[in-house]
Amino acid sequence: MTQTILVTGGAGFIGSHTTVALQQAGYRVLILDNLSNSSLDVLDAITRITGMRPDFAEGDVRDPETLELLFRTRKITAVLHFAGLKAVGESTQIPLAYYDNNVQGSVLLLAAMQRADVRSFVFSSSATVYGDPQKLPLTEDHPRSATNPYGHTKLVVEDILENLYRSEAGWRIARLRYFNPVGAHPSGLIGEAPQGIPNNLMPYVAQVAAGQRPKVQVFGNDYDTPDGTGVRDYIHVMDLAQGHVQALRHCLEKEQELLTVNLGTGKGYSVLDMIRAFEQASGKTIPYDLVARRPGDIAACWADTEIAYQKLGWRAEKGIQEMCDDAWRWETNRSV
Ligand code: NAD
Ligand code: WQD
Repeated sequence: MTQTILVTGGAGFIGSHTTVALQQAGYRVLILDNLSNSSLDVLDAITRITGMRPDFAEGDVRDPETLELLFRTRKITAVLHFAGLKAVGESTQIPLAYYDNNVQGSVLLLAAMQRADVRSFVFSSSATVYGDPQKLPLTEDHPRSATNPYGHTKLVVEDILENLYRSEAGWRIARLRYFNPVGAHPSGLIGEAPQGIPNNLMPYVAQVAAGQRPKVQVFGNDYDTPDGTGVRDYIHVMDLAQGHVQALRHCLEKEQELLTVNLGTGKGYSVLDMIRAFEQASGKTIPYDLVARRPGDIAACWADTEIAYQKLGWRAEKGIQEMCDDAWRWETNRSV
């Protein structure tokens, strides 16, 4: 029988791509999203890609009544939890909103799952939990630390999940630490749609290529990296989506499990590498200024990918050119 997966935040960037991958893997998807950072249009786009409309409930993960209703009326096998706030800078300005959405939201969701006896959970963690890397590549046993409230919410939820796993038998939990998700579905129908000025490099670069912003500001060219600019492990969002499908399958095969896995490519690219790749993808010159470092940024980070391969049989397949080609297709498509 087709299994139903509850995808919180499924109208957002990573959740929408994962919904496509889940549907294509044979799951039925029920999205719960409060549309605070997304729009309903994504449902039509997903339907065009997969030929299947995901079920949708507009609501908040912090609303126990909504959760109770969903778990009571739908036979939900597992929960993939993407819903939350994600802007590092904003989290220092409105920390309580971050703890409320990300920590309280997760606690209420897990409590509702417990009541409904649904114990399979895949959590969107982040490489931000590694803080400033002591050594590269980053292995999952690298010490964790947080330098901002957003990162701290991820640390706290990771710990809550470990406590819960140890408190009673039967929980099947995956804590997936994403590196830098970029790109879009190759159809150009779904992608990242930041509101206002993008915080992250690649959506900013895309908007400069599209002529919506004059220049990229490259934050720092005096890091200890090959060209002096920051190095990151950029991962195509469709590879990331497939990683979720494999993590879910892995969990559903176990009696109980607490899995912690990096989802990255294992390769690092600099800001200038990414700008060049995007120039190639778009055929546009992308002007940039070299400016001061952004406070709180680290020089370099990339993933050790062995555990993902050993445990899930998963490796990222798409390189930076494909990431930029797909992001550009999405950018040009959505601005028409
Ligand atoms: P996104 O903002 O595009 O998607 C999040 C979705 O959750 C949005 O559709 C939003 O409307 C919804 N949402 C937010 N709060 C909610 C709530 N309380 N109840 C119901 N819905 C709510 O973000 P994304 O990039 O897709 O990120 C998804 C998850 O992955 C987040 O937890 C984020 O912290 C994590 N993550 C993202 C990145 C990244 O760079 N994008 C990296 C690592 C981890
Ligand atoms: C990448 C590189 C910048 C913007 C953040 C979060 C992390 C995770 C992913 C959620 C860095 C440089 C950026 C710009 C630039 N999110 N840059 N000009 O900081 O690695 O990670 O998103 O979990 O927690 O911290 O990503 O895309 O912001 O920056 O030069 O306008 O691009 O300095 O070297 P980051 P990013």
